[in-house]
Amino acid sequence: MPSFSSSTRDIPQVKAVPRHIAIIMDGNGRWAKQRLLPRAAGHKRGVELVREVVKACVARGVEYLTLFAFSSENWRRPAEEVSMLKQLFIMALEREAEKLHRNGIRLRVVGDLTPFGRKITELVARAEQLTRANGNMTLTIAANYGGRWDLLQAMQRVIESMPEQRGAFTEEQLAGCLAMAYAPEPDLFIRTGGEQRISNFLLWQLAYSEFYFTDTLWPDFDAAALDQAIASYQRRERRFGRTSEQLEIAAEAPPSRRELA
Ligand code: IPE
Ligand code: IPE
Ligand code: MG
Repeated sequence: MPSFSSSTRDIPQVKAVPRHIAIIMDGNGRWAKQRLLPRAAGHKRGVELVREVVKACVARGVEYLTLFAFSSENWRRPAEEVSMLKQLFIMALEREAEKLHRNGIRLRVVGDLTPFGRKITELVARAEQLTRANGNMTLTIAANYGGRWDLLQAMQRVIESMPEQRGAFTEEQLAGCLAMAYAPEPDLFIRTGGEQRISNFLLWQLAYSEFYFTDTLWPDFDAAALDQAIASYQRRERRFGRTSEQLEIAAEAPPSRRELA
């Protein structure tokens, strides 16, 4: 498994197509409400859009796509909606695992799965096992995930694994214990549905991601909407702390000098 460095220590290579896109898929409930439908209808339509966006990302050469499906705070919703979301998750795992595999996609699920129960834990383990060697794209679903949970469990793991260091661990060692240590940090963060907040998503990894907020509700977020987000990303200048002038010099310099700039 490759280990990725943090953007606060090294400057990642910037490509035209983001290597890693992380999305907060928000707005299912409002989409349904606008149509006088139950919230469940919005969530169902939301799953269809996941399919479309996964396909579009593979076609565009995105290497990692991470989707926030259920936050550690979403348990606060009415029991009926939570149970409906669990059912949808089960159905998606049952129906899609094979398809993902056929399309060469590796599936990973991050978050504390224990409260979801045995059925989901087993389906996830099976789908991850089936797709583990696929190389077209890594699709990560964040379920009962919270950025603070992730940081806390990473700190606990790093301290337990190196008792002799008595808590004096490095950024790299901590990052290596995060739930998504297998992926580079997101280049592009997208939130649909109009809110401009992180809602406890990837707190550590979004340190230098480009943010894109759109009023489009998740069930309307299609391949064209994804392309708009990527086009916006391509107009950004990712400086990682440097000045614009330094970037220009680095771009003009021959490759041997580029490392020095
Ligand atoms: C996002 O849509 C899906 C989940 C959080 C599971 P919402 O259900 O939050 O939709 P809105 O924000 O109420 O419109
Ligand atoms: C964030 O959406 C979580 C997911 C999309 C899974 P929410 O709708 O739960 O976020 P808040 O409550 O508006 O911040
Ligand atoms: Mg919401």
